[in-house]
Amino acid sequence: MRLRTLYRQYGYTRYRTSRFEEYALYADNKAFLASGDIISFTGIGGKLMALRPDVTLSIAKTACDCGNGQTKLYYNENVYRSDGNEFREHMQVGLECIGVMDCASMVEVLVLAKRSLESFGGRSCLDISHMGFISGMLKGTRLTHDQKKQLLMCVSGKNIPGLNKLCSEHGLSDGFRSRMTALTGVYGPIGDTIPILHGISNNEETDSALRELESVCGALQRSGAQRDINLDFSIVNDISYYSGIIFQGYIEGIPAKVLSGGRYDMLMQKFGKSSGAIGFAVYLDLLGGQKPEQTDETINIALPKGRLGDKAYAILEAAGFGCPEISGESRRLVFESPGNGVRYFWVKPSDVAKYVERGAADIGIVGKDILLELSPAVYELLDLDIGKCSICVAAEKGFSPGSGGNTLRVATNFPNIARDHYGKQGRDIDIIRLSGSVELAPLLGLSDVIVDIVETGKTLMENNMEPMEKIVDISARLVANEVSYKFNHKAISKLCAAVASQVLCSRSAGEG
Ligand code: PRP
Repeated sequence: MRLRTLYRQYGYTRYRTSRFEEYALYADNKAFLASGDIISFTGIGGKLMALRPDVTLSIAKTACDCGNGQTKLYYNENVYRSDGNEFREHMQVGLECIGVMDCASMVEVLVLAKRSLESFGGRSCLDISHMGFISGMLKGTRLTHDQKKQLLMCVSGKNIPGLNKLCSEHGLSDGFRSRMTALTGVYGPIGDTIPILHGISNNEETDSALRELESVCGALQRSGAQRDINLDFSIVNDISYYSGIIFQGYIEGIPAKVLSGGRYDMLMQKFGKSSGAIGFAVYLDLLGGQKPEQTDETINIALPKGRLGDKAYAILEAAGFGCPEISGESRRLVFESPGNGVRYFWVKPSDVAKYVERGAADIGIVGKDILLELSPAVYELLDLDIGKCSICVAAEKGFSPGSGGNTLRVATNFPNIARDHYGKQGRDIDIIRLSGSVELAPLLGLSDVIVDIVETGKTLMENNMEPMEKIVDISARLVANEVSYKFNHKAISKLCAAVASQVLCSRSAGEG
């Protein structure tokens, strides 16, 4: 009710839409949607219909080009999306401003986004990025659409090790690599970050995006609304729909973004319209699960139980984040060192990413295998250079996978990695999900091959098996919850810098 009143005060009128839309609207614009899964059904007359996963597409489709004017609409509707496991009904409130787009219109929408966040009470922040700047950076790289997408996934995960790896693989210049790395690291108040962007910008497209960003940020400052607004270039939306300012909003204690928006002129163009458009949605049902605000700056760290966790703890201890109680025989799972500002949890290795993604832990140490398999929404901040191994396809010695005509039976604890690997080869597979001793499967005739972790190769060797193909190298990563990173930025950055220098020391000692 508060949001509706606010939007009406700014001249927005209510837009109502049916729960049902033609499926084709979403199928043609899948990259615009937060999740690709859509509930569809056959309507009367045989037309394929869908339960709407989004409201903006319906508004953009029906909005008229309005000459020199603007159409300002708000909505309060339920949308139907999957979270990867289940379809859920989500309540959204949002607004869209369509028409001639000038600096004042963009600032008004940003101010409304900020006031929407503030209306829930507690600490909040609105973080801004610019897709024009990001796509300007990629100009002239001759990367394919998929390669750009991979690179942008690293940017959105603040994954600098991954970014460096991709730059090497695609033969990108050192200059490009250092500009992209710097951009990925940009996070902070407008006044601190605009000068960094000046150092990164290097062509007409990035310069023009920066000019727009400066005038919007300048207007926000003049209107006194700049508090709790940061620039964060890890906010990345789909490059084929968004070209201008994009933004996300966060509330302390809620582990995921509660507001998301941006300028989507390119979507309007896809519908044959020349109007500009900007808007945002607030995810109201996230607001129920708010954790009590943390009064101190203690960092909650999820460590994987076992050898990897012991090694990771040793690095953290050497970096100055020790917790004396943790060593020694104990069945306790939580250990605290108030002096060093840390609290450790021992967690099952495959669960670490979940604890961090859901905000139960601020940071965690997790194998890249788990990150690739589960794709959690976390920042991947450091490669710790420990727990090194690889994910391989392996089979009994002498096994031949055949030409591809037959379905290959693959036993694995990594179904998504296996599906992705064979999907790229166009090979039909039957996945047999196992959770341990995967090597047994081919020996007992349960599968033809396995996709599993190989560290020393001893398990394979002792079971008359051999690796056939390496899929990917693995090592342990330090990951952070996206919202903790923002609200506890100083403490997390300090810990990351100390850990990074420990990793560097061990690497140089190893090389020496
Ligand atoms: C992992 C993996 C392999 C083994 C490979 O198993 O699943 O079985 O390590 O290591 P190696 O190449 O050094 O022999 P883990 O010990 O984690 O137990 P699991 O079989 O229950 O998964």
